[in-house]
Amino acid sequence: MADATEAGKMVAARRAVDENIKKGQVVGIGSGSTIIFAVERIGERNKKEALNLTCIPTSFQARQLIQDHGLTLGSLETSPEIDVAIDGADEVDDNLYLIKGGGGCLMQEKIIASCAKSFFIIADTRKNSKVLGTSWKKGVPIEVLPMAYRPVQLKINQLLGGKAELRMASRKAGPVVTDNGNFILDWVFDGAQDWPAVERTIRDVPGVVETGLFLNMAAAAYFGTADGNVLVRT
Ligand code: A5P
Repeated sequence: MADATEAGKMVAARRAVDENIKKGQVVGIGSGSTIIFAVERIGERNKKEALNLTCIPTSFQARQLIQDHGLTLGSLETSPEIDVAIDGADEVDDNLYLIKGGGGCLMQEKIIASCAKSFFIIADTRKNSKVLGTSWKKGVPIEVLPMAYRPVQLKINQLLGGKAELRMASRKAGPVVTDNGNFILDWVFDGAQDWPAVERTIRDVPGVVETGLFLNMAAAAYFGTADGNVLVRT
């Protein structure tokens, strides 16, 4: 594979799937570019092993991936308890605190992760940080109700400093709209933060639907490198 980053994503995804997905499970399927390798691997194994999984998607993309690989699509309505959820991340710190939502799917991703007995992160090695903000410079994604985006933006800037920017598809197309019909603010911050306090502060602002901070949720993170090595942090 030409691109080292893609190779890293692939080995991490395959290892996490092989270590954690077992027959008959309900599996939460994340979103992004890394999860594509995981679903490919699940599909491959399913053909050989008849895994009999029920897969719960975190986005429109995940839903399509599940169907494209011949897996059984489920929902939280029929399977509210998930055995294992697998997803990518934008950055992972020493405490396994995550920034997620670079692709705008944070809200359904967090719901699915919160319903899972175990939640595993797969990523290339660039995402492995001591401190959030080291490699991911685009800030913390925050999903907001469209009618409230401007006051939420101002309040977050006042309460936390930094700058909450409205994520745009383009000047012409306007703001990015999530699978849930909401907008995204990216809160760009400076320096180390008290993440549990930041999470509480953001969530307390009326109009905020969800944040891309995933604290105390991941059981382990798999980081892959181009040479085929995978570092597992728990
Ligand atoms: C989607 O909104 C995100 O949370 C992704 O899971 C995250 O951005 C990781 O994406 P990649 O696997 O594309 O890096």
